[in-house]
Parts: sequence; C-alpha cells; structure tokens
Amino acid sequence: MSLSPSGSTPQLVRNAQARIPTAYGTFFLYDYTDTRDGKEHLALVMGEVDGCDDVLVRVHSECMTGDTFGSLRCDCGEQLHMAMQRIAERERGVIVYLRQEGRGIGLVDKLRAYNLQDKGYDTVEANLLLGHQADERDYWAAADILQDLGVRSVRLLTNNPAKIEALRSYNIRINERVPLQPTIHAENAAYLRAKVARMRHLLQLPPTPSPSVSVPLTVDLRMRVTLLQERMARHFAHTQTPHVTLAYAQSLDGSLAAAAGAPLALSGAASMTLTHALRAAHDAILVGVGTVLADDPRLTVRLVAGRDPQPVVLDSTLRTPATARLFDHPRKPWIFTTERSEEDARRRLSERGAEIVLLPADAAGRVSLLAALEAMQMRGVRSVMVEGGAQVLESFVAAHLAHYAVVTLAPRWIGGVHAFHASANGALPRLTHVAYTQAGDDLIVWGEPTWTPTSNAGGEAA
Ligand SMILES: NC(=O)c1ccc[n+]([C@@H]2O[C@H](COP(=O)([O-])OP(=O)(O)OC[C@H]3O[C@@H](n4cnc5c(N)ncnc54)[C@H](OP(=O)(O)O)[C@@H]3O)[C@@H](O)[C@H]2O)c1
Repeated sequence: MSLSPSGSTPQLVRNAQARIPTAYGTFFLYDYTDTRDGKEHLALVMGEVDGCDDVLVRVHSECMTGDTFGSLRCDCGEQLHMAMQRIAERERGVIVYLRQEGRGIGLVDKLRAYNLQDKGYDTVEANLLLGHQADERDYWAAADILQDLGVRSVRLLTNNPAKIEALRSYNIRINERVPLQPTIHAENAAYLRAKVARMRHLLQLPPTPSPSVSVPLTVDLRMRVTLLQERMARHFAHTQTPHVTLAYAQSLDGSLAAAAGAPLALSGAASMTLTHALRAAHDAILVGVGTVLADDPRLTVRLVAGRDPQPVVLDSTLRTPATARLFDHPRKPWIFTTERSEEDARRRLSERGAEIVLLPADAAGRVSLLAALEAMQMRGVRSVMVEGGAQVLESFVAAHLAHYAVVTLAPRWIGGVHAFHASANGALPRLTHVAYTQAGDDLIVWGEPTWTPTSNAGGEAA
C-alpha cells in the first residue's frame, strides 16, 4: 500500500508485518518505508485497532542511546517501555516508532550535543549551537501510519504539547493526553528540567534540584510500581475501600530495627528510591507513633518526582512530639487517636497543624484499624501505604487487613526487633503471586498476603 502526506505523491509504503512476542505480551510490528529518503518507520500494534476510537497511542521518535542501550541521559527508553506496558495492560494500542533520532538531528549530532551539555549548555542551546533547530521532528508519517491502521481517534501517551499540536495539524483526532511520568535522577534531572522550561513539556518535577538525587529505578522496579498502582485502582473500583500496602525493610534475620525505638537505615540507596516511588503511588502513608518517636520521619516524596501522600499517624494517647518533622509536611498530618488522649495534647498538636481524629479503640485500647481505614475512606483515601513500624505492621497482619506487601530484604544480619509473632487471630499469612526484583544490593519481594489455616506451616517435612 502507498500513503502520502498531501494525498498526491505516495511517500509511505507498507512493506511487511510480523508477530513480535515481548515481555509485555504479543505485538505485531508493521514496517513502512518513506520513499523520499528510504527511512523505515515502524508501528508496534497490539489488539484490534482498525476502526477503533480512543486507541492508546504512543508516537515515539527513535532514541538509540535510550531505547537500545538504556542511556539514563534521557527518559526515552523509560517512556517506550511504559507505553508498551500500558498498551499491554489494555491489550490494545499502537506505538508508532519514527526514525528521527535526537529530535531529528541524527545520532552524530546528538552525541556532539551531549558533549556540549556536559559543558553546561542545555539540550536546546546545544542543538542551536550545532546549527539545528531545538526540535526538527515531523509527524506526518505517524499520522499516515495511524490512518493506514484504521485508527479513528487516539488517547495519546505524551508529555509534549507540540506533538499533540503537530498530530492535530495532520487531522489526527486526539481525545485525551495520557501523561508518562518519568523517574527523575542525577543523570536526567537537568535534561527534564530543560524540557519543561524550554519545550513546554508537561512533567511534575520537584521545585528545586534535590541534593539527594536518587539512583534511578530499574525498568523492572518501575513496572512493579505501575502494576501495583493498577491493582490499587482495581481494588478501589470494586470495593470503594482503601487498598492497604505493607512496605517495609528487614534484615536477613527478620529484624526491622536494631533495638526497640532506635532508628536504623536498613535499605540501600536503590530501595530508598523505590520507597519514595511507592509513597508517591499511594494516597496516604501511615505509621505508628513509635516510628515518629524513633525515626522522626518526614513521610514526603523526595527521591523521585511525585505527589506527597497524606501522612497518617496512629497515636492512641498523643505521644507525637510537637517538634516532629512531620509538621513540616506540605499536607496537614492526620493523627488518629482515642479517648485516652488528653485535651491538652489534642489542642497542642492541632495548633502545630495536625488534624486530630478521635476514633474508637481496639480491645487493647489502641486505635482501631477498621475505624482508621473507615476514617481514611471518608476522607477520600483510595490507597494507603503502611510503612511501619514493627507493632503497626503486626497489627495490620494480625487483623488480616493487608492487601499487598512490598518487603525489602537487606543482605545483613541485625539481631534486632522482629515484627511478626504467632498471632492469636489465626496463622500468619504467606505471600502469593510473588515477584522478586533487585534494588542495588537489596532483594524486593512483592506479593499478596494470603491467610489460610496452614499458611505459615512451611513446606513438607524432609
Ligand atoms: N524496617 C522498616 O521498614 C521500619 C519502618 C518503620 C519503622 N521501623 C522501626 O520500627 C521501630 C518502631 O516500631 P514500633 O513498633 O515501636 O512503632 P510503630 O509500630 O510505628 O508504633 C507503635 C505504636 O503505635 C501505636 N498504635 C496505635 N494504634 C495501634 C494499633 N492498632 N496497632 C499497633 N500500634 C498502634 C501504639 O502506641 P500508643 O498505644 O501510644 O498509641 C504503638 O506502641 C523503630 O525502631 C523504627 O526505626 C522500621
């Protein structure tokens, strides 16, 4: 078949197509040639798109360094993989892959531009210094490919308003922009900032470069976080109750802390970045007052770009100190307490900016977890990450109130405080649907806690 941007001289020819099984699922790859310059363009297609509306589409310009070699200078490889994953989740969509390397300036000049960026020029200045435009891409081929595939209208995976404007100028109906939020880290922070400042890209970036810029998350870890987000959205859609994720770190011997009430940095840099990505993925983050007293955590998202979750503290008698760093959190912390707390303490912490929420107590006189979840639900929380400490984690597990767990296993022995003890309320759970990923030296275990009468009975006797 032949296609043309103007309807006159055919310029795009479809050559062949074939099935491409990938880690995300099976796609079909369509190969096209631009007859003017001999360039090949591609379309990676999943599911039925012919005659369809609202097809999830990514128009991706080739970035050999990012797409093929996994360069961290840009977010291209990450965007490509996120797009494949999103399309696979919906079992339908198209990635149009255009051969216009380096925003159209070609690989050689892109490498030269990188050298200029290493001398302090931003990505736009570097292109201009090399005699190029900031962006030399054209999207007519993408428009023609979408037309050839029979796509009637699209939901476009992009952060780039110029791409939307260009595709619309070629009569592509874009019904929605679907953002792709990249991971920000030391190697891509300046580049992403330049994209936002100079090229109008729609990205959420931290207001200032963080002095503790994180190590980047691997594709595997990012994929896991995205899958968890999808899972949480499904959970809320079905139950209208908050999804509870337990997320904590432990040593090889199962210690969460060195000694009761003492702080201990168990996670390595990569798993700390993961923790921040997980925080950003949840509406709320919950800890017990023991963690506030021991660690004085800020409970914010600093190592990745993203939203700060709503901080929630379980504190039956209001032992939270008025000096806690929690009060510097951009959101007003919610402190869930019981009748056992004193009026004075309630007033003192309210004056510090907390919302004090009086809830029923459990049999032990501590904040009832069911009441806490209900209070969060009423305040619009759809997902909560329980980050500690030992007693709070144990309470959620004992009450069978955890839907998912992300456990960081640090390769150390501590011989300290363990969280989980044989519970009066039945067996401790085991994880099902388990996945393992690595974060630096740490092992991350992902799975669903599942309670059965024999869940902690172990394997068969030898
Ligand atoms: N490894 C990790 O990932 C990780 C994460 C966080 C913390 N930590 C460590 O864990 C240690 C703190 O653990 P922790 O057990 O002392 O503190 P915690 O679990 O954070 O807080 C426990 C306190 O929360 C209050 N609470 C209120 N309602 C509760 C309920 N329903 N269930 C359980 N607790 C309830 C209780 O105090 P009241 O009775 O006064 O309300 C209880 O003593 C620290 O050493 C910290 O460094 C480790």
